[in-house]
Amino acid sequence: MKDQTTLIIGANSDIAKSLAVEVIKTEQSHLMVITRDSHFYQQEQFNNSDIFLVADYQESTIQKIVTDLNKQLTAPLSQVFICHGLLHSEQVTPEKRLQSLTENAFNEVMTANALTPILWIKNLIPTFKHRLNQKQACKIVVFSARVGSISDNQIGGWYSYRASKAALNMLIKSAAVEFSRTVKNVKLISFHPGTTDTPLSKPFQKNVPEHKLFSSEFVALQLLEIVKNTNIDGEASFVDWQGKTIPW
Ligand SMILES: NC(=O)c1ccc[n+]([C@@H]2O[C@H](COP(=O)([O-])OP(=O)(O)OC[C@H]3O[C@@H](n4cnc5c(N)ncnc54)[C@H](OP(=O)(O)O)[C@@H]3O)[C@@H](O)[C@H]2O)c1
Repeated sequence: MKDQTTLIIGANSDIAKSLAVEVIKTEQSHLMVITRDSHFYQQEQFNNSDIFLVADYQESTIQKIVTDLNKQLTAPLSQVFICHGLLHSEQVTPEKRLQSLTENAFNEVMTANALTPILWIKNLIPTFKHRLNQKQACKIVVFSARVGSISDNQIGGWYSYRASKAALNMLIKSAAVEFSRTVKNVKLISFHPGTTDTPLSKPFQKNVPEHKLFSSEFVALQLLEIVKNTNIDGEASFVDWQGKTIPW
């Protein structure tokens, strides 16, 4: 009997796919995913999952999808994973020097990494407060990165990506303060997966020792265990794949 729902947003991320594969193995949790590319989820193993395909992540799209999702929700949300992350693309290259920073790339990275995740959380607030969820604790994980730690920044560079993850962390911290008064059954977790072998890290894996380059399957299992063992305490946490706290 599926009495809980896991929601994975930005589900075409390699780590998200590994999370999804683990979640559908469980008896307890129904799976809902949201992505711009649903090819992976057309496999038979996801026949009982709800797949929401979006064209973009503008707020009007987010609002529409949340409305549709609420109509289909039969078991309360217990875990939400928000996996958006943009480090490089045809238009974006992580900056080694400040001179490389451009307005367009900065705005694109900030939108994907900080604004879009918090817009999902904002629009899901009524869902967390809904009667289905009143007694159900829900853990929300946003994918951050250690380079978003302001106190840990020793080597600089990657201006836009660092700033976007630092901004995401601050948004999560502030939301946790508000939620401790208003949405008490929710825990917010900023998660650093470690360097993981995915398209996002591909161009930057050269100097990473083999034992420090994780598979997405390993990271997904670590994260599910961390989420299971994390209590609802009214505070935001910033943790790595071992569950170790990272300074903000
Ligand atoms: N891999 C690493 O070494 C590493 C290290 C530290 C932190 N992280 C973080 O972990 C998370 C997952 O990354 P991954 O390695 O699994 O990456 P990935 O496989 O490249 O997945 C990229 C993700 O970002 C979303 N995305 C890409 N461009 C976007 C845009 N312009 N607007 C909104 N969403 C966009 C994709 O959503 P769709 O499903 O819609 O395509 C997908 O969820 C990211 O937040 C990343 O920053 C990764």
